Amino acid sequence: MRRYVVCVQTIPTARHTRVTDPTRAFVTDLNPQAKQMADESMVRNLSAQAQAIWPQEVPLLRRYALPSEARILDAGCGTGEASSRLAELFPRASVLGIDIVDSHLELARTRFAELAPRLSFEHRSVFELQAADRSFDLAVCRHVIHSIPYPDRVMAELARVTRRGGYLHVIAEDYGMLHFSRGAPDPRDFWHEAPASFGTATGTDLFVGRHIFGILANLGMEDIAIDYIVVDTIRVPRPTFAAIIEAWRDGYAEAIGEFTRITRESATAYFDQMIATIRDPRRYAVWMVPVASARVP
Ligand SMILES: C[S@@+](CC[C@H](N)C(=O)[O-])C[C@H]1O[C@@H](n2cnc3c(N)ncnc32)[C@H](O)[C@@H]1O
Repeated sequence: MRRYVVCVQTIPTARHTRVTDPTRAFVTDLNPQAKQMADESMVRNLSAQAQAIWPQEVPLLRRYALPSEARILDAGCGTGEASSRLAELFPRASVLGIDIVDSHLELARTRFAELAPRLSFEHRSVFELQAADRSFDLAVCRHVIHSIPYPDRVMAELARVTRRGGYLHVIAEDYGMLHFSRGAPDPRDFWHEAPASFGTATGTDLFVGRHIFGILANLGMEDIAIDYIVVDTIRVPRPTFAAIIEAWRDGYAEAIGEFTRITRESATAYFDQMIATIRDPRRYAVWMVPVASARVP
């Protein structure tokens, strides 16, 4: 098993990866999931996740007292699923999406060209945003900090670029918050083993959803709230929920085989079992997705 050495002394400056070709994605301690993030399956995943999550996320976003011409940052924007929805939700806002996967940025620019220049995309790292202090009213970071080390440094960087009284809005995944009807193989065994081992091997916290409150509190953030978006077989169309798990299977089974005691074949079988559960109208599955929000003092 390959292990990544995470050096806590390292100051994360520009040591991230410019990913232009997913097959040649170069993994660093700051970007352990570079290959999976740039894979075709991730494009499908982000689309399905946005379809599943956005309807429940809108009321959470509407809580923020934003100026009409709000400046919004979408940090780790991927293919622009949320950046574009933010630009539509706040029709006079300017939205900047940043990411380190050039193919995602290109796709986002092409897909959402009609929203330019109010919506723009740039190659920047969440560790070093290359933005002035307090230059945004709202900093959004969705589905990112579980996949990279130093989530605390990313939150500090987001807080730095957000104005006093502005907001952080963070989807912090937690892989202890997925539950499926019992099956054979039983998904419970998979979720008990895979995220912990994968996180240890990659220097990431796949349970950061339960730690984000403490990270924000340690940074002195105010009005911290943790809400939950419930992606389950009642609230979300089953094909949409299934598409998320299919994309995870296609993008991650190989790495799970490499980083955990679960083989690639076994990981695929577990994912197939989860997909069958979701597709079966008599069975139930749920993914609880923590959404953290906070005000910058
Ligand atoms: C799971 S995707 C989420 C994309 C988007 N936020 C969404 O909700 O659809 C995670 C994204 O974080 C990006 N990412 C990872 N490390 C990054 C870094 N250091 N700086 C900027 N983006 C990063 C990946 O390239 C990927 O596009």
